[in-house]
Amino acid sequence: MAHHPPSSTRTIPDISNVPRHIAVIMDGNGRWAKQRFMPRVMGHQRGVEALRDVVKSCRELGVQYLTVFAFSSENWRRPDEEVSFLMSLFLKMLEREVTKLHQNNIRLKIIGDRSRFDEKLRQSMQEAEQLTSNNTALTLTIAANYGGRWDVMNAVQNLLKDHPHLAQTFGEEDLQPYLSMSDAPEPDLFIRTGGEQRISNFMLWQLAYTELYFTDTLWPAFDRSELNKAIASYQRRERRFGRTSEQLQVQPEGGQGA
Ligand code: IPE
Ligand code: IPE
Ligand code: MG
Repeated sequence: MAHHPPSSTRTIPDISNVPRHIAVIMDGNGRWAKQRFMPRVMGHQRGVEALRDVVKSCRELGVQYLTVFAFSSENWRRPDEEVSFLMSLFLKMLEREVTKLHQNNIRLKIIGDRSRFDEKLRQSMQEAEQLTSNNTALTLTIAANYGGRWDVMNAVQNLLKDHPHLAQTFGEEDLQPYLSMSDAPEPDLFIRTGGEQRISNFMLWQLAYTELYFTDTLWPAFDRSELNKAIASYQRRERRFGRTSEQLQVQPEGGQGA
């Protein structure tokens, strides 16, 4: 069986100064464009550029996993033109950027329910994942048609399909391998741009003990210095995982213990 990183509710994870895993809700594209009297979709286009910079910065800083919310399972509710613009942007991005990601030793993964995407997009996703699958500098995961509830429900269904006899007795450790992000440590730092302070059905399960950071900066304007601010905020936090502050002073590394 594959090795899975420890669950924060079962074992206290090791923590490091630079977050190993950053999860981002890239919000505020539409408002960024509106402020400039441009159509909303221009904000999405600029959002891709912001993502490119953040990927580069994360790689340089030694962040191992970057997971970004690109399209939620609820974003289908948007006007048709905006949804189809986002789909074609996604396809273009895959076609144009994957070679660069590969050259930079970045592994690309996509999570979410792909069944609603058209065949061409699904094909591109699979090719991009395949090409970059052995890269080791950074894992970039794009959440597309993703929802936190979908993830948990999907995991339960697949677990029970494989192991029907576990229906009454399964535990976290049985479910873990079926969740989308099962190979990655849980996010250390969550960033939401665009001023809203909510999770919007992002990684509900995995954010259990993640440090949350909210900024008013709109996503297209989120750059290296904004990322540094978020990381600096993270570095000032005391991650207790249920313990007392006094216990941490005795054992500052967190280290072992359930
Ligand atoms: C986030 O920006 C990108 C997607 C949800 C695809 P928005 O498009 O939500 O921008 P605002 O929140 O309307 O400004
Ligand atoms: C969350 O942003 C989803 C993505 C950034 C892809 P939304 O703009 O869809 O979130 P709400 O609707 O304001 O909660
Ligand atoms: Mg929004």
